[in-house]
Amino acid sequence: MPNAYISGTGFYVPPRVVTNDDLVKTYGIDTTHEWIVQRTGIEERRFAEEGVGCADLALPAAEMAIEQAGIKKTDLDMIILATLSSDHCFPGSGVYLQRKLGLCEGSNAKFVPCMDVRNQCSGFLYSLGTATSMVKSGAMKNVLVVGSEVHSAALDLTTRGRTVASLFGDGAGAVVVSATEEDRGVRTWKLGADGRHADILAQKIWDISKRPFIPNDANGVGQVQPEMMWAQMQGKTVFKHAIERMAMVLMEACMAEGITGENIDLFVFHQANLRINQYLQQMLGIPDSKVVHNIQRYGNTTAATIPILLAEATRSGKLKKGMKVAMVAFGSGFTWGAAIVDW
Ligand code: ACO
Repeated sequence: MPNAYISGTGFYVPPRVVTNDDLVKTYGIDTTHEWIVQRTGIEERRFAEEGVGCADLALPAAEMAIEQAGIKKTDLDMIILATLSSDHCFPGSGVYLQRKLGLCEGSNAKFVPCMDVRNQCSGFLYSLGTATSMVKSGAMKNVLVVGSEVHSAALDLTTRGRTVASLFGDGAGAVVVSATEEDRGVRTWKLGADGRHADILAQKIWDISKRPFIPNDANGVGQVQPEMMWAQMQGKTVFKHAIERMAMVLMEACMAEGITGENIDLFVFHQANLRINQYLQQMLGIPDSKVVHNIQRYGNTTAATIPILLAEATRSGKLKKGMKVAMVAFGSGFTWGAAIVDW
């Protein structure tokens, strides 16, 4: 059975920087830089321009990862795209990415399977687990895994929506998971979910049990109320469960490997809130030198946070071959996951 290792990483964030002060000045939101930094650690985020979608952001991230992996696009056997902000309701954004990669035309045509994973902030780790299983089974040699989010289009950028709107940013991160005979790669992954909390953080833009699924006005034009249109979140409940579940799933993964936190060289936590991660660090006694963050610069990019961190850390030299890496995420659903990787 081959091992499955991360052969390449890549990321892309749109160029437009939106600072906390811009939320006040440009959008008229009643907030302050101090409030947002104190509660979340976020100083700025990136917003994509109108006309740029989920697969558009995914493309440069994917190309960077493919190049670093040292393979051709046509060497890919599968594409997994994790997002909560897919270009359309259906089809998923994975097929749009395949098309943008040029895999549907001419001599490059390779009609590999494309799958979207809709697990919000845990989406990348659910996808990594899936890709690892595909590779370890021998069915695939190279699987592209991308987390890509365009949040800015679906944020209520008014004072009414400030709690959620101050948290999220746009961006994409990608990895290639490849087969190897070397003694390295994804050692273990653990995933979990608790559907009792499905409504605590949700964007219910429609209700498919209703007829029609979006209410219509007299002219047959869909009418979506603000509380359906924008994500609704009970922030304190998310915060509490995030800490508990992230600590628990990390310990589960370490136990499966017969290791403790001491054996981990680098912790790559999902970037929902700097305070959540600092709380976790304190609870588990993890020194700052073993943690990477980017929420200060990008906000919460949901499925993209972990692959963006991996791409940045490999390029800054913080993440090197031979290191033992722990990745942990928690998000809407609630869903969570952890992976231990020998880089
Ligand atoms: N600026 C100023 N005031 C604000 C802002 C803002 N941006 N946002 C909220 N407030 C106000 C609220 O209106 C409220 O005012 P009130 O007391 O007059 O009603 C007050 O601040 C406190 O609001 P809370 O929501 O109770 O603030 P809290 O201390 O819980 O912090 C926060 C909110 C930062 C969102 C926090 O709960 C949090 O980070 N939770 C975790 C959220 C998270 O991780 N979400 C992502 C999950 S990942 C995924 O799957 C998408």
